[in-house]
Amino acid sequence: MNKVKTVNIDLGERGYEVRIGPGLLSRAGEFLPWVGGAQVCVVTDQAVAPLYLDRVRRALCGRQVVAKILPPGESTKTLEVLESVFDWLLATPCDRDVTLVALGGGVVGDLAGFAAACYQRGVAFIQAPTTLLAQVDSSVGGKTGVNHRRGKNMIGAFHQPLRVLADTDTLATLDRRQFVSGLAEVIKYGVIADAEFFTWLERNIGAVMALDAEALAFTVERSCINKAKIVEQDEREGGARALLNLGHTFAHAIETGTRYGEWLHGEAVATGISMAAHLAAQLGRISAADHARIARLLSAAGLPVGPFTGLPAADMLQLMKVDKKVRDGRVRLILPAGIGAADLVTDYPAPALARTVSHFTADGVAVPA
Ligand code: GLY
Repeated sequence: MNKVKTVNIDLGERGYEVRIGPGLLSRAGEFLPWVGGAQVCVVTDQAVAPLYLDRVRRALCGRQVVAKILPPGESTKTLEVLESVFDWLLATPCDRDVTLVALGGGVVGDLAGFAAACYQRGVAFIQAPTTLLAQVDSSVGGKTGVNHRRGKNMIGAFHQPLRVLADTDTLATLDRRQFVSGLAEVIKYGVIADAEFFTWLERNIGAVMALDAEALAFTVERSCINKAKIVEQDEREGGARALLNLGHTFAHAIETGTRYGEWLHGEAVATGISMAAHLAAQLGRISAADHARIARLLSAAGLPVGPFTGLPAADMLQLMKVDKKVRDGRVRLILPAGIGAADLVTDYPAPALARTVSHFTADGVAVPA
């Protein structure tokens, strides 16, 4: 049996452990010491509940457990659904000692985390991520929130969980498209901060995709170590944490423009990373060889790297202006500076960005000479 790995998120009094390994969702000892009161509210979705809700209920034995089961998918991450969670918490009724457990992927984690941040001005919560994307990224670091029809993740709060339980057994039953989507965030760490991990992924992507237990556990752990280093430096995204948004300004425009229905987040991120690498290569920030390595690894992981249809380039450029990195009306972009390094770039020429967006969309835009 694989050993359980622990990654510490050192944020002083808001610090916590990310536990990574098989069987964690069944173990009372992984949950109960972090449940302060008698009540536990599990927020999950219709895809995850039939698989894991019973085992979490059993692990929480001795506590009063209620569950809110949401429809699956990004279209659930709205203020309306959040309000329905508040209605339910109040009707149950849950007091301030309640602990919320977010059992599911990134949508459930972001929404339940935001509910925990706001309910009675903040209650405790535990992240129990069941997708690769949530285990390697969204459950760690305390970003919570919902989408707005004008922009992805535009309403939210920083609220750190008490701990993260990444049960790697859940990855074995994960829908293939969901699994592949999570690899985009894994590859992101290699591009922005960890050249050695990028090379390891180039060599081992086959084992990861074949769900080799050791390769998977290493992938989740190394991703969380990378995330921990960045979040510890910059919890509230005043600087370095923005690097975790490689590809995301492009991705969020794709997701918003397609109304949060068609694309999985990681798929949009993969196309966004390709676009960022294309722009970086145009600007001479990365070599043609590094650009090719990034595109090759994303493709080897089965991720979409564009061109894509369904969103006119002009709309995409417009949507990119609704982004939390915009300052004084200027879209700032995370661009790679090689393999294992990236920067927040403000002074790129607008025609170069237009050329990249044009290259990746079916209809293109008029590119100034
Ligand atoms: N997913 C990006 C971040 O947590 O900052």
